Amino acid sequence: MGGVIPVAGKFTIEVASVKKSAACGGEQSVLDAFLREDIWVPHSCTQGTCGSCKIKVLGGTVDHRSSPLYTLSQEERDDSVALACQCAPVSDLTVEPINSFACDDRIPRHTLADYAGVIVGLEDIASSVRRLTVKLDAAMAFNPGQYVEITVPGLGVRRQYSISSNASDPSTLAMDVKYTAGGAASEWLFARASVGEEVAITGPYGRFGLHAAQDEEVIMLAGGTGLAPMKSIITSVLAGGLAPKVYLYHGDREVLDLYDFEYFRDLESADGRFVFRPAVSRGVQSDGWEGRIGRVTDLVAEDFASCKGMSALVCGSPGFVDSAAKSLKRRRMAPRLIIREEFTHAVPEPADQLLN
Ligand SMILES: Cc1cc2nc3c(=O)[nH]c(=O)nc-3n(C[C@H](O)[C@H](O)[C@H](O)COP(=O)(O)OP(=O)(O)OC[C@H]3O[C@@H](n4cnc5c(N)ncnc54)[C@H](O)[C@@H]3O)c2cc1C
Ligand code: FES
Repeated sequence: MGGVIPVAGKFTIEVASVKKSAACGGEQSVLDAFLREDIWVPHSCTQGTCGSCKIKVLGGTVDHRSSPLYTLSQEERDDSVALACQCAPVSDLTVEPINSFACDDRIPRHTLADYAGVIVGLEDIASSVRRLTVKLDAAMAFNPGQYVEITVPGLGVRRQYSISSNASDPSTLAMDVKYTAGGAASEWLFARASVGEEVAITGPYGRFGLHAAQDEEVIMLAGGTGLAPMKSIITSVLAGGLAPKVYLYHGDREVLDLYDFEYFRDLESADGRFVFRPAVSRGVQSDGWEGRIGRVTDLVAEDFASCKGMSALVCGSPGFVDSAAKSLKRRRMAPRLIIREEFTHAVPEPADQLLN
């Protein structure tokens, strides 16, 4: 491992414990090759930022490519650890995921594939949030809570977006995107994208969601567009009776940042198992806001004296997710019952961050 130049061509890569193998090109990530062959390897961000896809390379050699040092240290590289979502083979490989498969056992698996999409909707749903709706050339089975990668037209870079639409219509996907000034995907989507434009999509990815019936009530904490996967998940949880009660907290800075407010208010009126608690963190009485003011990560701790015996789904920026998890743990929620999705952004690639 390390210091090698990627070789074109196909290698055979195997997960040792399950004795399943896939063909992998020299320019292809190990994770990509496994998921396309329906071989599950734990992963979360596919960007090299979360570390959940770490594998031990038991045999063979990998090129770490863009693996950042802060996710994969030099000591780990020396110990034959690699990031499956970043590394590519330079020989046949035998590997073993470091994170247990066991925690993913209840997750239905869907084969990763590429899709040709056409934009059928572009809707501004909040002050800097745009809903992108794409019709795919084929149905993409996915679990509510999963995400896709969009190849930004004209630039070729890939960005991850959670699917906010209902999994019962797997050929039309909606994604809710927050504007990032100067961002590759943001500048395309908010300035240049148009209905009828073609866009390449790969998916589905990720393990976020609630996949089987449980007795615990669920608290969902969404920061900004962290609401996107929650919307898809809530539909399936209520339809499938997967949890006795669902509390949704949606927080952002100002009233104009909130979206799908009426949708969730109506759902609350229609279904006694669903409670909607939106809040804004900045004082906004002048905007006519009659709801709560404060950070939802604090408000949840005000509302529940104890979260023991409950579970949570948390999604948003890494800072939001961290602060939400701390609040829930302070209220005695078991850490293993706090399921997280962090909207990390793509890793910049300055030379001093990379080692090969
Ligand atoms: C699993 C996953 C799911 C995601 N789902 C969604 C989703 O449903 N909706 C959504 O809006 N986003 C989501 N994201 C984030 C999304 O993938 C992009 O990172 C984001 O849209 C910015 O992309 P960009 O190309 O516009 O900006 P980039 O070109 O990536 O970034 C431009 C500049 O802005 C900085 N930057 C980018 N994002 C941030 C940030 N959040 N905070 C501070 N600085 C930043 C970068 O470092 C860079 O300097 C998700 C991320 C992951 C990992
Ligand atoms: S670092 Fe590979 S999935 Fe996050």
